[in-house]
Amino acid sequence: MPACGVSSHPTRHIRSSRKAPGLYKHRAPPRWTKIPPSSERVLVLGASSGVGRLIALMYARRGAAVCVVGRRAELLNGVREECSRENLPHAQAHTESKRGVTSAEDERLRKDGKWCLAVVADCSDSHDMMRVYEAVDSAWGRLDTVILTVGVSSVLPFMSIAKAPGSDNTNNTGTSAKGLQRVHDVALRSLQGNFFGVLLSAAAFIPLLERTSSSPSILLVSSVASLIPAPTRTLYAATKSAALLFFQSLSIEHPAIVFSSVLPASIEGDFRASAVDAPVLSSATGNHEEKGEERKGKKTEKKLKRDLVVRTCIDAVDYGTRTAWIPGWYRIAHALYWIWPAFIESSARKKYGYSV
Ligand SMILES: NC(=O)c1ccc[n+]([C@@H]2O[C@H](COP(=O)([O-])OP(=O)(O)OC[C@H]3O[C@@H](n4cnc5c(N)ncnc54)[C@H](OP(=O)(O)O)[C@@H]3O)[C@@H](O)[C@H]2O)c1
Repeated sequence: MPACGVSSHPTRHIRSSRKAPGLYKHRAPPRWTKIPPSSERVLVLGASSGVGRLIALMYARRGAAVCVVGRRAELLNGVREECSRENLPHAQAHTESKRGVTSAEDERLRKDGKWCLAVVADCSDSHDMMRVYEAVDSAWGRLDTVILTVGVSSVLPFMSIAKAPGSDNTNNTGTSAKGLQRVHDVALRSLQGNFFGVLLSAAAFIPLLERTSSSPSILLVSSVASLIPAPTRTLYAATKSAALLFFQSLSIEHPAIVFSSVLPASIEGDFRASAVDAPVLSSATGNHEEKGEERKGKKTEKKLKRDLVVRTCIDAVDYGTRTAWIPGWYRIAHALYWIWPAFIESSARKKYGYSV
């Protein structure tokens, strides 16, 4: 069974091992009969760090061709090199003994150094996304799997953005023009990272997936915050939610592609560093919400292991899972919100250390 919290599973009866890919003991996912893992072409958008980086490495480890995308060139090129190293045993097996399922085309790509690619790009920029498309199309001419991990956080209560230092709002009489402008700017950055990236990736790659893959798949790394309201995450929740509904609606228009979404709770790591409202966070040392966050981050909050999230994502693609919550019980919290909102709201205040 996929790692956890899985719904709408078309192949529930099939079990996967928790062991590393390649050591699977149970029946392989049906997708593998169409696309062997060592021949899969995988594009990971948002792969310079965190979950995206680890997903790229995992695919490379099982022999897939991987293209990583992100804005930070140095980190991204490092990830590409790591992917090449992970891929090495497969490359040697292919060239030395012709073991595994391979084709002349795969061998040529490996020989030409086109198996692991990196494209430095901003996914919210249409020109950049055109470059990514051209790089993938010209190197591989085929694409099987798109992984969307691109995302940015936001961590302040909404009105703190409008009242931030520099927004010229020194009294409590209302929001200043600068405050409104700041809300607009911060919201735009949140939309660019969480929504436009997904939108442009879909527009760029759906035709290539449909045209060239025998089992096309797209996975969106969303968040529980996209479906369960959270204080101090208003912009993050709203923009992740927009991306999720876009993604789910799009899936109805493209039944030939399997659309999977994974909705994790907080994951270990440094996602807060990407907060679009971060300048305020660092300067507003007297902000009680920030202190609450720190308290929570240091002592109380249990965060998900990245490995678990990565495994769930890859299982979701392999098994055609439509939606996976991590942990699974969050789907109940989602349903409960519509029945007993006050309970979920007070739990959310506690979780995020937010008091009115
Ligand atoms: N961490 C959590 O607690 C948590 C919880 C639930 C869901 N999630 C979701 O999980 C995903 C991965 O998060 P993570 O924890 O792995 O954080 P992360 O390490 O910050 O990863 C985010 C990735 O997105 C890339 N990115 C951001 N904006 C981009 C843009 N405009 N163009 C291209 N790449 C862009 C970043 O690379 P560059 O900066 O180099 O561009 C980075 O590689 C996100 O979608 C997030 O919403 C995270």
